[in-house]
Amino acid sequence: MSLYLKKISNFTLTAYALLGEELDDFDWIPYEQNNPEQTKSSSNRNFHKSALKYKVMLIRKLETPQDYEACENTMREIWQFTERDVIPSHLLKPINDQGGLVLGAFEHDKMVGILVGFLAYYKGILHHHSHVTGVLNKYKGVGYKLKQKQREFALSQGLNLVTWTFDPLQSSNAYFNFAKLGVISNTYYRNYYGKMRDELNKGLASDRFLVEWWIRTKNVNQRVNGIFEQPTLDEALTHAEVANKTRKTGNMRKNVSYDLHLESEKILVEIPSDITTMKEKNMPLAQEWQDVTRTLFEHYFCTGYTACNVLSEIKEAERRTYYLLGRDIHENSED
Ligand SMILES: CC(C)(COP(=O)(O)OP(=O)(O)OC[C@H]1O[C@@H](n2cnc3c(N)ncnc32)[C@H](O)[C@@H]1OP(=O)(O)O)[C@@H](O)C(=O)NCCC(=O)NCCS
Repeated sequence: MSLYLKKISNFTLTAYALLGEELDDFDWIPYEQNNPEQTKSSSNRNFHKSALKYKVMLIRKLETPQDYEACENTMREIWQFTERDVIPSHLLKPINDQGGLVLGAFEHDKMVGILVGFLAYYKGILHHHSHVTGVLNKYKGVGYKLKQKQREFALSQGLNLVTWTFDPLQSSNAYFNFAKLGVISNTYYRNYYGKMRDELNKGLASDRFLVEWWIRTKNVNQRVNGIFEQPTLDEALTHAEVANKTRKTGNMRKNVSYDLHLESEKILVEIPSDITTMKEKNMPLAQEWQDVTRTLFEHYFCTGYTACNVLSEIKEAERRTYYLLGRDIHENSED
């Protein structure tokens, strides 16, 4: 396999861009070179700002037994998985060899991120289902690159859709999935995996959104290329009704009321900005958040709304995060 080391001319990049190897029949091309639009705008509402902060980074399909062993270790490190939870090499390899994808992100020889996805069938559509994506803590930004490469892979297979599940109360994941990648969702699963033991998931029922990433749409194209104009929270608040009213108590927020009778075109649902800390410090409050948001999402998804964006901003030293729900959102058309 040939290695592509491409120096990026943009002086704001630390050294070398995220680099790639051939992945089956297509090459990884650093997106800055493809999209001059990205370097034109300095708007902080675009997403290219987190582009490439790392030195020598390679994303490639795993190949050797050593790769798969490193992947198991990286999972342990990212999620503090117990042995029961780690996806074993003997499953990763057939997934990778039979139409799925197991990617590693490497800084020099160290694996710092992983992604595992497989071919799947949902509502009559052959697609790619993404099971896990994770990066070590100090490698923020690499997750975005792993997803871009996954998209290229799915496109190369002629697919239109990538799905995955995630905990809708994890605000950074929500922002990552909706605002940066452009997923949509109108499917809420209660306690999807049953009781989970890993650090990130323990404590609450494993409720999940099933998200749909329609990888050929304009919305997704713009977002993965960092050229989407994300509305500000104030703009969204002017055009939408808020379904749950919250109040600050100490360092955290609690719900004071919620409304199941809204009918406007756009609805906002607030979520906590740090559910992991809330679970550590005040589990009953975290439970209450899950109960309220579960009720809201289930109700509004059933009445024709779809979650289509996440707005997250720091205002007066406090991060506030909201899902934006809209009516008649069907992003399954090719542009
Ligand atoms: C999910 C994950 C793969 C995303 O990858 P990443 O490289 O961290 O993603 P990015 O840094 O590109 O994007 C995260 C965004 O969330 C934003 N963010 C951070 N904290 C946030 C919060 N509390 N609320 C909302 N957004 C937040 C970041 O600012 C960043 O956006 P920006 O680039 O516009 O600044 C990574 O965070 C991870 O490995 N998490 C642990 C494992 C996991 O939960 N995996 C998903 C389920 S399998």
